[in-house]
Amino acid sequence: DPTPEEAQFGAIIAADGRIEPRDWMPDAYRRTLVRQISQHAHSEIIGMQPEANWITRAPSLKRKAILMAKVQDEAGHGLYLYSAAQTLGTTRDDMMDALIAGKARYSSIFNYPTPTWADMGAIGWLVDGAAICNQVPLCRASYGPYGRAMVRICKEESFHQRQGFEILLELMRGTPAQQRMAQDAVDRWYWPSLQMFGPPDDQSPNSAQSMEWNIKRFTNDELRQRFVGMLVPQAEVLGVTLPDPELRLDEASGRYVMSEIDWTEFNEVLAGRGPMNAERLKRRRDAHEDGAWVREAAAAYAAKRAVQREA
Ligand code: ACO
Repeated sequence: DPTPEEAQFGAIIAADGRIEPRDWMPDAYRRTLVRQISQHAHSEIIGMQPEANWITRAPSLKRKAILMAKVQDEAGHGLYLYSAAQTLGTTRDDMMDALIAGKARYSSIFNYPTPTWADMGAIGWLVDGAAICNQVPLCRASYGPYGRAMVRICKEESFHQRQGFEILLELMRGTPAQQRMAQDAVDRWYWPSLQMFGPPDDQSPNSAQSMEWNIKRFTNDELRQRFVGMLVPQAEVLGVTLPDPELRLDEASGRYVMSEIDWTEFNEVLAGRGPMNAERLKRRRDAHEDGAWVREAAAAYAAKRAVQREA
């Protein structure tokens, strides 16, 4: 028989209610949330790097201001998410140590290079588009602080997606060289963006339990389908080609038929052997070390204030 606490937790989940930080929760539920929320936070923080690469080279003052705002939004998303994870009893220091030691996961997508300006368009359109598909359902996640953080994050992500679309649209209305640059970026980001949703359902060890707990609302493959359904008409408006010759809508099932995703590449990136894994982690580690004096100064100031208050 369930204990009274287990019964209460089960009743909240069954009623599609919210679990709050002081509520009792199973250890495995807590661990799953710490895992997912901290990975998500790390993704936002590491995700600042591919775009920060273009801030000094944005083609106009307006583009530069927009890109800076977007990269700052990502820092903000990371901070809300670390705060949400902290309500589960983990510390910011523990999460950060795991990240810089290379022990924590962050999204595979941020391990690819950004060689051209069109990558800023493709990241906004494809990467932030995938993030929205994945994250809108997370606004209803059963854990209150996570769901609430996602509401604001999703609003900002939809702005990011539109700015990416608009960069690509402008390039596609430009010279043949600009059109080629846009298509080349779409070719490079399309498959990695499909991999963002995670392994196929029959190889996703966490999905079933996370769905039972109302953390995930859809499976990885369901969200991938929804994403492709969103891209197809937008690609037409842009005039870009999605780089999958097999892609078509199967009218009978309403599902998109697509070529096999390269899961070997995905697993290599997860194992730390993607094109930019080492560089991304090194940059994060250096930034953390460079910021040590700020943390020390803040701690010294807080200690001094505490003594003054006692006096
Ligand atoms: N990149 C890196 N790791 C991944 C990815 C990916 N794209 N997809 C799945 N994985 C990992 C999972 O974290 C899990 O590893 P773990 O058990 O060591 O944690 C493993 O692969 C198996 O996957 P699943 O069983 O499907 O894991 P899960 O149920 O957690 O689903 C998913 C993965 C969909 C990414 C989920 O965690 C999620 O929705 N997270 C929140 C969204 C997020 O993190 N977005 C970050 C990128 S978007 C952005 O920041 C702009």
